[in-house]
Amino acid sequence: MKTVPASPATVGALLTALLLGGCAWDGPMSTVVARSDLARSILSVYGIITWATAIIGILVFVALAWILIRFRDRPGHGLPRQIHGHALLEIAWTIAPALVLLIIAIPTIQVIFRTQGAAAPASALTVTVRGWQWWWEFRYPSLDVVTANELHLPVGRPVVLNLEGPDVIHSFWVPQLGGKRDVVPGRVNRITLTPERTGEYWGQCAEFCGASHANMQLRVIVEEPAAFDRWVAAQKAPAAEPTGDAAAGKDLFASRACVGCHTIRGVATGTLGPDLTHFGSRALFGAGLWPTTPENVAAWVKDPPALKPGSRMPNLGLSDADAKALALYLTSLK
Ligand code: CUA
Repeated sequence: MKTVPASPATVGALLTALLLGGCAWDGPMSTVVARSDLARSILSVYGIITWATAIIGILVFVALAWILIRFRDRPGHGLPRQIHGHALLEIAWTIAPALVLLIIAIPTIQVIFRTQGAAAPASALTVTVRGWQWWWEFRYPSLDVVTANELHLPVGRPVVLNLEGPDVIHSFWVPQLGGKRDVVPGRVNRITLTPERTGEYWGQCAEFCGASHANMQLRVIVEEPAAFDRWVAAQKAPAAEPTGDAAAGKDLFASRACVGCHTIRGVATGTLGPDLTHFGSRALFGAGLWPTTPENVAAWVKDPPALKPGSRMPNLGLSDADAKALALYLTSLK
């Protein structure tokens, strides 16, 4: 068989198709779909810079193409007229970039002040966000609610996120709502924003923080105020009392090392791992990694480090039956 070498055009077209295949406008982590006032203001700067650089790029390439064609070497033509030291040109291409920088700088500085210094209105909801290796803790001090990896917010109400780091540096990033902002041990960083549309927004730790950095995801559920109030009421309720096999799981939980790290109100008061009082109400667990089903949870408690590299939760040597009972109990905690 005779092989035909691919032409540069074919290779270029294939590579371009591959490159564009990675693009999506409205993916769950899209930075060009803004769903909060903060994300919109950041996106506006992004738009100005993108348009400014695109227009400049086009002008430069058109001028370059024209010059290459117009002044190409041809027989019988000498050197074109030399314009070295042309005062007007020198002044023009000094002023023009300065103007471009000014056009970019003014809105950029405005947005920096807007996103750094914004004082939260008195009606704002306050949430303490704590980045742990490798999960997110959300505390609502005014509501007496603690949850993990799933941040619920009412639409249209300003929220202040106070970012704290108990261990290493993380970065809180929910592209459609805004960010990123580092979570730094020993200090409190702040994000103020108002979610503008209901929906589910994906986030990701954006600062390398160890073996499971990539496994440190979160979701923000923005909902109507009434739905948010229902969620708060459900989170404040006492932990469900299990029946059947799940009851055996509860006894196991209370008698094993689980209680040293986790809180289940009325059962255990550990604070090193996620609060599990309403674990079953969260659609995903493991910081956004798996759907909260008894099968998935049983596999997890059997051997956490095997599923999530570096997991602080050790392999407790549970039997299959114990893991299953524990999983039934945990998933029953709606
Ligand atoms: Cu936490 Cu990366």
